[in-house]
Amino acid sequence: MAINFGIIGHGFMGHTHERMLTGMEGVRVTAIADIDPAQLEDVGEGIKRYTDPSRLIKDTDVQVVLIAANNKAHHELVLEAARAGKDILCEKPVAMSLKELDDMERECRTHSVRFTVHHQRRFDPDFRTVKSVYDSGTLGDIYTVKTGLYGFNGNMHDWHVFKSEGGGMLYDWGVHLIDQMLWMISGKIKTVYADIRNVINKEVDDYFKILLRFENGIMGEIELGTYYLSDKDKWFERHWFVGGNKGSLYVDGFKPEGKICRTTRLLTNVGTVHTMTAAGPTRSFGPPPPGVIVTEDAAIAATKHEDYFTNFIEAYRGREKFLVKIAETHRVLQVMDAVWESSAGGKAVSFE
Ligand SMILES: NC(=O)c1ccc[n+]([C@@H]2O[C@H](COP(=O)([O-])OP(=O)(O)OC[C@H]3O[C@@H](n4cnc5c(N)ncnc54)[C@H](O)[C@@H]3O)[C@@H](O)[C@H]2O)c1
Repeated sequence: MAINFGIIGHGFMGHTHERMLTGMEGVRVTAIADIDPAQLEDVGEGIKRYTDPSRLIKDTDVQVVLIAANNKAHHELVLEAARAGKDILCEKPVAMSLKELDDMERECRTHSVRFTVHHQRRFDPDFRTVKSVYDSGTLGDIYTVKTGLYGFNGNMHDWHVFKSEGGGMLYDWGVHLIDQMLWMISGKIKTVYADIRNVINKEVDDYFKILLRFENGIMGEIELGTYYLSDKDKWFERHWFVGGNKGSLYVDGFKPEGKICRTTRLLTNVGTVHTMTAAGPTRSFGPPPPGVIVTEDAAIAATKHEDYFTNFIEAYRGREKFLVKIAETHRVLQVMDAVWESSAGGKAVSFE
C-alpha cells in the first residue's frame, strides 16, 4: 500500500514535492491545499484540491501532511495536523522559535503521530562529499570547516523579504547550513559568534557570518550573502574548505568538484628560504615550490534529494529510523537563537 501524502502550500516547494513524490514508488499525493486558488490551477490529475488546509487535514485519504507553506504558518498547521492524528513532515525551518517547536513536539507526542522535518540538504552532493572526507579521518586532526554561499544583487523574493512571514536568509538557507554543520561535526559547541546584516533588504537579513567553536577544537564557519558581486566562475554557488594537520579539502559548486591537497614535506622552519612575489619577498606566503603540494580529486558523492524520501518511506514502514530527529532540529534552532543573540550583542555567546 502506498503512503498517502497531502501537501499544504503549493508554491515553489509544494510543486517540487508534488513532482518528486509523483515519480516515486511507494507514495502517492492524494490532496493539495493552498489558500491561494491560483496556486491550485496546475495540480496534477486525480489529486484533490483544497483552498482550506483544514479540509486537507481532515481528509481520511491523507496519512502524511507535508507542510510547505510560508515559515510563519508551520506552527499552527503542525498543531492542527497532530490533533487530527496525521503524521507530519514539515518544511524547514520547522518553527520560528524553540517555544513553537516545543508546542509542536508536545502535540505530536500527545496524539502519537510521527513528526520529522525536510532537511533534504543532508543529501546535497557537495555536502556529502565533504562529509565523507571528514568522516574518513584522512585530513588528520581538523581545525577548520568553512562553508559559504553567495548570491547577487540582494536577490531575494516573495515573502522571504518580509519579517512577518518568517523571511530572511538565516531562516531560508541558514537553517540548512547550520543543520549540515551540526550533523557532520559531533560534540559540543562551546561558543557561537555571529554577525547578521541587512545589506540590501530593509526588513530581513541578507548576510551572515557564523562562527561555531566546537569543544573538539574545530572552528565551523558559515557565511552567506545575497549582495555579492563577482565575475568568478561558480562564485554564486557553494564553497567548502576543510583544513586538517594532514591535508586540506576544497569542494565548490552545486555540481561539485573538489580536491584533497597534501604536502610531500611539512615546512615547519624554512629558515632563509625566500620566495619572490609581486608583493615583494616572503618567507611564509607566496606559491609553494613545485612538487610540494600533491592533490587527488575528491570522490564526489552521488547523493540526491530523492534519497531523503527513500529514508522517509523506509522509516515510515518501520525498516529504518527517520534521518532527521526533532532533537536535532531543536539544537539547530538553539544555535539560531544564539546567533541572533551574539549578533545583537556583538560578542560570542557561551553555548553547551
Ligand atoms: N527544503 C528546501 O530546500 C526548501 C526550499 C525552498 C523552500 N522551502 C520551505 O518551503 C516552504 C515554502 O516555501 P516556498 O519557497 O515554496 O514559498 P512559496 O511562496 O513559493 O509557496 C508557499 C505557498 O504556501 C501557500 N500558503 C501560505 N500560507 C498557507 C496556509 N496557511 N495554508 C495553505 N497554504 C498556504 C502560499 O499561498 C504559497 O502558494 C517554506 O517553509 C520554505 O522555507 C524549503
